[in-house]
Amino acid sequence: MPNLTALLEKMTLEEKIFQLMQLTPNFLSEDDANLTGPLAWMGVTENMASNVGSVLSAVGAKETIALQKQYMENSRLGIPLLLMADIIHGYRTIFPVTLAIGSTWDMELAEKSAAIAAKESAVTGIHVTFAPMVDLVRDPRWGRVMESTGEDPYLNSEYARAFVRGFQGDDLAGDMDRIAACVKHFAAYGAAEGGRDYNTVNMSERQLRETYLPAYKAALEEGCEMVMTAFNTVDGIPATGNKWLMRNLLREEWGFDGMLISDWGAVSEMIPHGVAADGAEAAKKAIEAGVDMEMMTSNYANHLKDLVEAGEVDIKLIDESVLRILKLKDKLGLFENPYRAASEEREKEVLLCDEHRAAAREIAAKSFVLLKNEEQVLPLRVGQKLALIGPFAQNGDILGPWSIWGKQEEAAQVYAGLSARAGEDAVIVARGCDIEFATEEQLQEAIAAAKQSDVIVLALGESSEMSGEAGSRGDIRLPQAQLDLIQKLKPLGKPMVVVLFNGRPLDLHGVLEETDGLLEVWFPGTEGGHAIADVLFGDVNPSGRLTMSFPYSVGQVPVYYNNYNTGRPLTPQNANERYVSKYLDMPNAPLLPFGYGLSYTTFSYSDASLSTAVLNAEDTLQVSVNVTNTGATVGEEVVQLYVRDVAGEVVRPLKELKGFRKIKLQPGETKTVTFDITEEQLRYYHADLQHKSDAGEFHVFAGPNSRDGEPQAFRLQK
Ligand code: BGC
Ligand code: BGC
Repeated sequence: MPNLTALLEKMTLEEKIFQLMQLTPNFLSEDDANLTGPLAWMGVTENMASNVGSVLSAVGAKETIALQKQYMENSRLGIPLLLMADIIHGYRTIFPVTLAIGSTWDMELAEKSAAIAAKESAVTGIHVTFAPMVDLVRDPRWGRVMESTGEDPYLNSEYARAFVRGFQGDDLAGDMDRIAACVKHFAAYGAAEGGRDYNTVNMSERQLRETYLPAYKAALEEGCEMVMTAFNTVDGIPATGNKWLMRNLLREEWGFDGMLISDWGAVSEMIPHGVAADGAEAAKKAIEAGVDMEMMTSNYANHLKDLVEAGEVDIKLIDESVLRILKLKDKLGLFENPYRAASEEREKEVLLCDEHRAAAREIAAKSFVLLKNEEQVLPLRVGQKLALIGPFAQNGDILGPWSIWGKQEEAAQVYAGLSARAGEDAVIVARGCDIEFATEEQLQEAIAAAKQSDVIVLALGESSEMSGEAGSRGDIRLPQAQLDLIQKLKPLGKPMVVVLFNGRPLDLHGVLEETDGLLEVWFPGTEGGHAIADVLFGDVNPSGRLTMSFPYSVGQVPVYYNNYNTGRPLTPQNANERYVSKYLDMPNAPLLPFGYGLSYTTFSYSDASLSTAVLNAEDTLQVSVNVTNTGATVGEEVVQLYVRDVAGEVVRPLKELKGFRKIKLQPGETKTVTFDITEEQLRYYHADLQHKSDAGEFHVFAGPNSRDGEPQAFRLQK
């Protein structure tokens, strides 16, 4: 155990400042190109580069061990290098994208995916992942919604906890197969105006606290070691230089004493944001806000020394930051063993092992959401002749954004999955069109294939480039070429099922009403094709539920289930009146609501009851409902609990998710599902920002999604 304070005392001011810097590994290599290339243009000197505190995106045991070895040989004080990377939904075994994992409503599976991602990356030498990303999202134009678990603060918080548990385990110091987590992007990056990446965020502090902050807080309560700043402004000040956000709220109010890192280049971005005139001012603002480490720019390294010597920045701030970084290195055991779990041997055993593939397959199948199933077109039956058509029929681009170390060639494609299950002879395959273009030849080939089939399975969607970071879209329909393909095949009159790949809720006009079946598979990861076969053939009954509303049209966006009522709410009675809150040309409701998803069986809800009509503040109210499997197959249902505060001091959402339970029912079986409600769950941020509840009337229901449920009333008495 090193004495960190003593170590800090031995460090020169320069050594301290270099600890606060994070670069990619190319900066650390000593080739000539580097000396005139990246090092030079960023103003990074060789001395800085060989003393940086952390490196991002170096992976592979061979590379990380060599890097650490070279680093330690040059390190005057024997301070190990901290290695971080974006391990978002898997390292080599790629799980479905986070939005898809969100659709499982299964915290154990979410945790398991993170634990496997941790293990695979730990053996390659990674110490920290830049995950979980827990930004709440309401705008599907934003490409990064695929990194989020959706639009609900409660559900996102549950997932935040599950991911942190999965990555870190409960003994980070002792369990070398775990890695530290870094929750991001603090704060409210998901609220970028217009869904345009990196754009302005503007909201009241009350909204921030009520809706956007809970998931970050939940991650920290679970022990998350690190926090990353967001690119955006928070009330006019970029998060990376926002003292109120980082010092007052994160550090003082929430008591976070771990490491805070800037997002990539975010310190420098304070200049174009227009709150810093130059790099020196940007460095000063970031260190004063409490940003310990600067990612990928060198304002700290270039300016902090002068700022300290000129008395502009207190050396205490730098010492504080260095100490936090040393503490994390120590906690990870790097002073004892700087290589930690890195091992070329273990990489061979662990990466993409059978167990991990099996988990990826299970999680993918559970993340799919059945959005339509007319005439029981699904499940498919062995013996049916399938025409598998579309740009995703034979395509490895199913891992999704942020799967940097996954390999498309290792992914099970749709054709491989279906033909493994049904036999090669049963599947005729044709591309039909590319993601955005079609040739006449492709179309003719598709029509010929379709003619020979009993069922058309269309594998359509967005390429992974169309979502993810900087993947904002203003039009969130499927590309026209794919909509046209549907129209070309429709006249054949064959049953048609769409398997949809995408990183965001889409406007499904031209798809949903045109097909008999629709299975939303997001970006399903390495085992995608197998998992798709599992679900299409009914070996797995779909149980995913949407965690983000699918808009009727992009013109409604943002559209989310937990909205307010307004003073002139639209009702079935006033729908023809003019002066109500509505669109003239489209409905108010999304096409598919939060919580929605079908099964191959059906469920009915009955005998909803409340244990009491009056909840005393110190008591508990039980909400019960009977759920029956009324179909012929075993299935899983996600029973969801929603509450409305009818008259608060501040306007309250029409519905708020307060609980959920995923249950499995045999055909004909009924289970009673009971939820507890306490006064604490009814609290919210009042005008004075106090978190408290209002006495009075509440509505509550337990139902299959946020739209369908019969509310019952109770009163909270205080
Ligand atoms: C992203 C972060 C990511 C970082 C490092 C940034 O552009 O916003 O989410 O962790 O890059 O790759
Ligand atoms: C980062 C981006 C950055 C880009 C530049 C990505 O890994 O996440 O923020 O702009 O690399 O190469």
